[in-house]
Amino acid sequence: MYYVSCIYENNYDINAIFRGSEMVTESSPIGVFDSGMGGITVLKQLVNLMPNEKYIFYGDSANAPYGKKSSDTVRKLTMSTAAKLYEMGCKCLVVACNTATSVAINVLRDTYRDIPVIGIEPALKPAVLANEGGHILVLATNTTLHEEKFNTLMNRYESKARISTLAAPGIVEFVENGITCGTQLEEYIADILSPYQEDVPNAIVLGCTHFPFVADTIKKVIGNQVTLYDGGKGTAASTHNKLDEYLLSSREPSAGDTEITFCNSDPDPAKTLLMKQFFDSYVCP
Ligand code: DGL
Repeated sequence: MYYVSCIYENNYDINAIFRGSEMVTESSPIGVFDSGMGGITVLKQLVNLMPNEKYIFYGDSANAPYGKKSSDTVRKLTMSTAAKLYEMGCKCLVVACNTATSVAINVLRDTYRDIPVIGIEPALKPAVLANEGGHILVLATNTTLHEEKFNTLMNRYESKARISTLAAPGIVEFVENGITCGTQLEEYIADILSPYQEDVPNAIVLGCTHFPFVADTIKKVIGNQVTLYDGGKGTAASTHNKLDEYLLSSREPSAGDTEITFCNSDPDPAKTLLMKQFFDSYVCP
């Protein structure tokens, strides 16, 4: 159970909710953001782990997909969203987007030194450790795969497994339109995964937070024997640890509803409703 209120970027009164970073306390909300709906898969893991916290989730659906934009543009959009959540008095920022983390995590941490800033990265480490010597396929956006951050991560594990990478930008667009199953999506996924039908990987890393929504379709196409990994749970655990370290964990007991405020840059109320529906229906792996 949780409480939902909706704030649209174009009509919220920033002065009414401004609390200022100096005033953040254990009872301040956690700010979670993504290019759109994807970050909900991380939000759900956060709420599962810390139901006694308050959350503000911001989806930048008006600018999704980030994966098709230049790194510079994604960095600017990310900084702008982070500034909004900071001004809203968030006690920590969770970048629930692999693409935004890849291009902006360092500048975010330099800018917001007084609160924890947690990013997400493709869950390559657990996938490799559980499948040493095997074949791992990383699905992510083009930007994530080409940024230095992912390449450093890949170099670290390359000697332990055969790692292939594949950009799957179309999935983001399906999810942004509320499509997580069906023939069209299945055909798209079958098409991009066709090179791997003969050379089936042992594991697939879902390196974009939109992708866990289509996990069942991916399994349907590639086979149930392939294990899927995503970074949502690990990001929730890191957030929990950081809040403890900064003495910012909520002291509220877990009884009752979790308060979540959903915000979207797209003024269409359907987008906010879709975020809520995704949150309700998503079952954490
Ligand atoms: N959900 C995002 C990620 O984790 C970005 C998807 C996009 O907007 O292209 O990479």
